[in-house]
Amino acid sequence: MSAPSSTPSVLFVCLGNICRSPLAEAALRAEAIRAGLIVEVDSAGTGDWHVGSPPDPRAQATAKRHGIDISGYRGRQVTAEDFRRFTHIFALDSENLEGLRRIRPSDGTAHLSLLMDLMPGHEGSSVTDPYFGEDAGFEVTWDDVSNAAKAIVAMLKGAA
Ligand code: 4NP
Repeated sequence: MSAPSSTPSVLFVCLGNICRSPLAEAALRAEAIRAGLIVEVDSAGTGDWHVGSPPDPRAQATAKRHGIDISGYRGRQVTAEDFRRFTHIFALDSENLEGLRRIRPSDGTAHLSLLMDLMPGHEGSSVTDPYFGEDAGFEVTWDDVSNAAKAIVAMLKGAA
């Protein structure tokens, strides 16, 4: 008999933790509920400018359009402990993946990868940062992270 697998836990990491990673967190929470998958989900930023702040109003509005309230989320900075606490850490872009590799502790156990590596045909791609762009960019972000969330659920269900 094989050992019971522990509950998977997923951390999404972008730069500010107010645009892309909170949307990814929201998308995976919703997708996991739909799929009946138990998974711990959180998000963080490599930067510390928005620690304690709610998501960008445009990210909140985007989540709301898709039926999800993220107004209670608060920004936090990724820590070394996250590499021991989570089973999977997904970087939203390649710069943040590099930043995570630099701070990863030697005893970190989390599987660290680029989020879009899960999407066939988009391996190596970044989720574009919508922060400095038009509002419409947030819907593009939502499409990317919700498709990736479906892929994460499929991967975790396959591993269960
Ligand atoms: P995020 O977007 O990394 O998707 O949360 C950003 C939010 C804030 C900043 C940059 C990116 N900023 O420079 O404050």
